[in-house]
Amino acid sequence: MRVGAGAAAIGSAAKVTLLEPVRAMASPRPVPPSDRLRFASIGTGVRGCNDLSTALRAPGVEMVAVSDLYDGRLIAAQEEAGKKLDTTKDYRRILDRKDIDFVIVATMDHWHAKIVEDACAAGKDVYCEKPMTHKVSEGFQIIDAMRKYNRRVQVGSQRRSNVVFAKAREIVESGALGQITAVDGWMDRNDPSGAWVYPVPPDASPQTIDWERFLGDAPKIPFNAKRFFRWRGYSDYGEGLPGDLYVHILTGIYTVLGLQTPPQKAVASGGLYHYKDGRDEPDMISTLYSFPGITVSVRCNLNNDSQGSGTRVYGTKGTLSFDSETSVTFVPQDTRPQPEGYSVIGWPKKLREEYWANWKKEHPAPPLSSLTAVEQSQTFRVPDDYDEDLVHMENFLTAVRTRSACNEDPVFGNWTAIACHMANHSYFNKAEAVWDEQAKTIRM
Ligand SMILES: NC(=O)c1ccc[n+]([C@@H]2O[C@H](COP(=O)([O-])OP(=O)(O)OC[C@H]3O[C@@H](n4cnc5c(N)ncnc54)[C@H](O)[C@@H]3O)[C@@H](O)[C@H]2O)c1
Repeated sequence: MRVGAGAAAIGSAAKVTLLEPVRAMASPRPVPPSDRLRFASIGTGVRGCNDLSTALRAPGVEMVAVSDLYDGRLIAAQEEAGKKLDTTKDYRRILDRKDIDFVIVATMDHWHAKIVEDACAAGKDVYCEKPMTHKVSEGFQIIDAMRKYNRRVQVGSQRRSNVVFAKAREIVESGALGQITAVDGWMDRNDPSGAWVYPVPPDASPQTIDWERFLGDAPKIPFNAKRFFRWRGYSDYGEGLPGDLYVHILTGIYTVLGLQTPPQKAVASGGLYHYKDGRDEPDMISTLYSFPGITVSVRCNLNNDSQGSGTRVYGTKGTLSFDSETSVTFVPQDTRPQPEGYSVIGWPKKLREEYWANWKKEHPAPPLSSLTAVEQSQTFRVPDDYDEDLVHMENFLTAVRTRSACNEDPVFGNWTAIACHMANHSYFNKAEAVWDEQAKTIRM
């Protein structure tokens, strides 16, 4: 993925630059039959249906099979694909097929690692939804499997391929922000859907859902449709707000700052304040992460959305602001030298005035620029039809075809997943979570 040069400067005072999306497959072209890719989806709920239709928008891609645990979703996947597919509730049957090049894994999080490992062992490339793992150890198992079977694996945090974050990285690398010491990221909501209170389909039952298989390694409990459809609220199957939303914020931050390790430490606080519907995950969680020289604060609140979502990267010379994944604004700090005004208040008037007069003599240069910070600020945004999901998927498809590297391989996906696990570790244990790089584990 290359960062396009600013294609057009629109509006002179505002300095808004439209980013040119440079896509792996910018113009659909006929794909020779030898280059056609055949895939299957494993998990075709909300995101799985979205992912399969994204893959089908790329040229030379064909869907041939689907695995899901709920009958309704086997139907939904075929409706989305617009054709009849080979369907099964046992994904291993899909992995046995020799004519499938890659699989999309969009199951609940507690199934990701096992399916990705099995798929790699079966010689399939994999697009796996975020967060990559449910437990810390799984990340290293996935990395081992990818390397052992020489597979291409893309983790599905699409900000990683978004040109806005690549542009922001370029700005950071240019030194324009000076020394970066703090980052804030947040993603807030205030509606039942945002809090995962999804309706349960009327035909949900042990006859239409393979409940035993859904549980997998999770504790064995009787059929519970609410847990199946609202799984994000239960730590047995997901990682709550960190796994659902932090991971997107963190993917952006990791990309922009070029971070390449898990955080050193995390301290989380929050609670289940409002949605007391049986879930065990908090509906508000705020976490302070420590990286060398930088403190990163991340918050998700499901009970007020007045701040929407955003990220701010604070440097000694400027600030980068993202209000969403569609634009980034750089605002310089006014770092022109100023005479001290505050601490000389307690000086005798004569000394104070001499100090100011001397200061002016010693700083004869005019201010660095007559422009205000706002006038110097720059916004870079993507065109209205930019689709980061498609760009991320196309990057994966190129990797499958050419064996090039994926933008978000499991090494990267593991760092952000571990950061999510550290937030939960701290929240549930009410203690600081420390990353132990040697033992590859979180300790307190
Ligand atoms: N990248 C993004 O922006 C984004 C957005 C939404 C969700 N996601 C991720 O996508 C994944 C799925 O989320 P969702 O909202 O679609 O959930 P969902 O509940 O709508 O769908 C998950 C599906 O996985 C199926 N499944 C579970 N275990 C399976 C197994 N062993 N074999 C076959 N099918 C299995 C279930 O039957 C279910 O239909 C999650 O990891 C989530 O974090 C990513």
